[in-house]
Amino acid sequence: MKANKLLTIALAGIALASCKSDKKQAETEPVTAEPTTAEPVAAEPEKPAAPVKPNTALATVTAASESSVAGTVRFAATETGTVKVELALEGLSPGEHGFHVHETGDCSAPDGKSAGGHFNPSKVDHGSHEAEVHHAGDFGNITADESGKATSSWEVDWISLQDGAENNVVGRAVIVHAAPDDLKSQPSGAAGARIGCGV
Ligand code: CU
Ligand code: ZN
Repeated sequence: MKANKLLTIALAGIALASCKSDKKQAETEPVTAEPTTAEPVAAEPEKPAAPVKPNTALATVTAASESSVAGTVRFAATETGTVKVELALEGLSPGEHGFHVHETGDCSAPDGKSAGGHFNPSKVDHGSHEAEVHHAGDFGNITADESGKATSSWEVDWISLQDGAENNVVGRAVIVHAAPDDLKSQPSGAAGARIGCGV
């Protein structure tokens, strides 16, 4: 009997070396504390509505005492509490003319007397608007040029346009006079006839 050597070929299994890295991964957790994203507390309270909106008033000046005066006086409240007054008139005689806010918003009388006296809520003496004491209605004088036109502006703190305020000029009258206000005669500066009136 032939002894057949049975060669068993052992197939060496190829061991696949796993290429595991021995390197210890130094995966250290970052120490730096990430800033915690704090929930933003919406601490923004609703702003209360502005207490007073600036408002304006317009007086259209028409002739009185048979003059030919015409124009406008604009009032605008500012955010700081002052009032800007802008005057533009024509038909005046050249030179100075007294200008006031009078108490009553009534220009119906031909001579403008229906507008009453100077607006004077604090019951003080008449005077220059640049003096410490004067009527709330005192604005001194305006000056007309050779063509009879006058423009003037003031920013003042002694009147307001606010409803209910004692010094509110809305609904009262503006008066321009034939003569200059002498800024001292009582009760109205001796400025003569009322030649322009507007409510
Ligand atoms: Cu007057
Ligand atoms: Zn006065």
